[in-house]
Parts: sequence; structure tokens; C-alpha cells
Amino acid sequence: QELQLNLEQIEKGGYNHFMLKEIYEQPDAILDTFRGRLLINDAVIKLAGVEDNMKKFLAADRIIVVACGTSWHAGLVSEYIFEDLARIPVEVEYASEFRYRNPVITEKDVVIAISQSGETADTLAAIKLAKSRGAFVFGVCNVVGSSIARETDAGAYTHAGPEIGVASTKAFTTQITVLTLMALRLARAKGTISSSEFRHHLIELETIPDKVKEALESDSYVQTIANIYKDATNFLYLGRGFNFPVALEGALKLKEISYIHAEGYPAAEMKHGPIALIDEQMPVVVIATKKGHYEKVVSNIQEIKSRKGKIIGIVTKGDKNVRELADHVIEVPESLECLTPLLTTIPLQLLSYHIAVMLGKNVDQPRNLAKSVTVE
Ligand code: G6P
Repeated sequence: QELQLNLEQIEKGGYNHFMLKEIYEQPDAILDTFRGRLLINDAVIKLAGVEDNMKKFLAADRIIVVACGTSWHAGLVSEYIFEDLARIPVEVEYASEFRYRNPVITEKDVVIAISQSGETADTLAAIKLAKSRGAFVFGVCNVVGSSIARETDAGAYTHAGPEIGVASTKAFTTQITVLTLMALRLARAKGTISSSEFRHHLIELETIPDKVKEALESDSYVQTIANIYKDATNFLYLGRGFNFPVALEGALKLKEISYIHAEGYPAAEMKHGPIALIDEQMPVVVIATKKGHYEKVVSNIQEIKSRKGKIIGIVTKGDKNVRELADHVIEVPESLECLTPLLTTIPLQLLSYHIAVMLGKNVDQPRNLAKSVTVE
């Protein structure tokens, strides 16, 4: 038993939990995702699975993403990125709904299945259905040789390394990284992005691992915030555009490991319901990075403040407006708008982690949850 314990400690590499280790591995994990694919000197993105099937991607009327849980959130982020950069219409589906809905699928559809484990039963079933109707199915998996990796026609691995914590962290950011590389490659092939814009995106993308590292420096401040709000019974997470799915993912992380009720919402939807919940007891995490719909999100923050909600703003480094209104601000480095999810996610992972630890929860193996769900 002692030997077993020591082994586990070694595996955790000095961290108290796998989740924290995996959060901190993200700069390296993203670098591994880039390896051999982001060729900055040649201004090229190389993804064998995409190159080999370029005709299918270019002929696609639309992309349908199927996934579950956190992978579904990565799919939602990719919807914004594919549509913005490559101008391909994207639909993002819960695999469990898609498979039973008698969906309209044609041979001109490209289906992208996203799965960390590569074993999720609903995602696997969705793939089989799409294939039976003639669609080309592309997998974005982490586990090499997994069922989904084998069942798909082609794919690109995330190369995040083993993820042990049930709450997905580095798998999420590397999924977004792969999907961003795909969107950029297709944008270039379709001519929806100029070569200078393309090059600019590559240069910005290359800086992401260092910026993730910088975002991780907020850790001790996030811990302070966690200590203030750990006893809250509800949390609201708001974001817009590229960061709307990040709000969903932030809320999911908190639910999964701290068992605190949390909801993610597109910030502008606040007025259609959630605003009724806001009082002095309600912490609201608002992703309010520069660009995009910044001013609109700032006015959402004003509305929360006038109802006495507690505001935790995730802002771009140097931000002043939100700082004046919010109870706390957590800074992330500046980046291209489409790349901000890779940065804004970091403090939200840390916030859920610290709250769960402070509440004495089993962070790596939360109750009722499994790392891979191989049954319906
Ligand atoms: C489970 C895990 C989640 C994961 C989801 C989808 O619910 O606890 O962390 O996001 O399954 O898993 P997949 O392996 O397909 O990404």
C-alpha cells in the first residue's frame, strides 16, 4: 500500500491532485499539439488527416460536430472559429440527441467527432449513424488507438498526454488548439483568409503556450477569490461570442467537482431570465476580454452591479473599465479574439479546483462521474 501511495505521488509530479497537474501541463500540452503541425517559418499548417482529405473538406456544405460534456464545449468554440475564419457553416450537436433524432445527413456533410477518451458510447453511436448515411467522419481524440479514433475515417490527435482527473482540462484546450489549426488550414485552402492574416494568426497562435503560462500566474489570486465565494450555493458564468462556450465550461467545471450549482449563459441572455436570480448572494463570473462585444459585456456588468451581484471579471491585461465596476478582476494576456478561449479558460479551471479543494471534495474523482462514459 505504501508503495502504491508513493507511486501515485510520483505520478502527480509534486502536485496535490492530477487535476492541478493537468491544468499546469497546458502550456506544454498545447506545444505538443502544435508539434510538426504549426510550421511557423514556412507559414504552413500541416495536419495529415486534413491534407489527405482536403477535397472532402472543401466540398463540404457544412460541418456537424458531435460530442458530449467538455468536448461538446470545445465543439461550440470551434463553431465560432470555423465560421469566422473558414466560412463553413457549423452545427454542434450533443451526440446523445443527434443519434436518436433521425438527423438529416448527406454525403456532403463532414462530421467532426470530438472525444478525449475516444470511448464515449453516445459519440461512437453518432459516428456510426453519420457513416451509415454517407458522411465523412473526422475524429479529434486524445487517446491513441481508442474506439472513436479507429471508427472515424480520418482524424487528428490532440496529443495532450494522459488525462487522469475526471474534470477535463488539458484535453479541452488541446481540442480547441487542434480545431483552430484545422480552421486556419481550411481558411487558407478556401481563400477566406489572406496570406498576411494567416501568417499573423500563426504568429499569435505560437505565443499561446507562454500566454497560458502567464494566465496560470493568477493562481494565488484565484485562490483568494475561491476562499471568499466557496460557500455560495449558486454561481452564474457569462460570456459572449468565442467566450460564451467558455462560460458554459467554467460552470460545468464548478458543478462537476465542487457540487455547487452553476449556470453558464451568453451574457446578452441574462435579461431573459437569469437576471431575476441576481442579488448580493450571487457571484457572477463575467468573461469581459477586450474586442468582440466588450462594451456590451461591460453594460451587463453594470446591470449585475446595480442588483448587488458579486462580480468576478476575467479581463484583458491592463483593463480599467471592468476593474472600476467588478469586485475582483483576473487578468489574462491579450490575444486575437478567436484565441482568447485558450486563455480565459485557465482561471475558471483554477477557480473550480480551489473551491473544490477548500470544500474538501474529491477533486480527481468526483461523486457520480466517470472519466469515460461507455454506456448510455
Ligand atoms: C464524461 C467526462 C467528461 C467528458 C465527457 C465526454 O462525462 O467526465 O469530462 O467531457 O465524458 O468525454 P469524452 O472522452 O468523449 O471527451
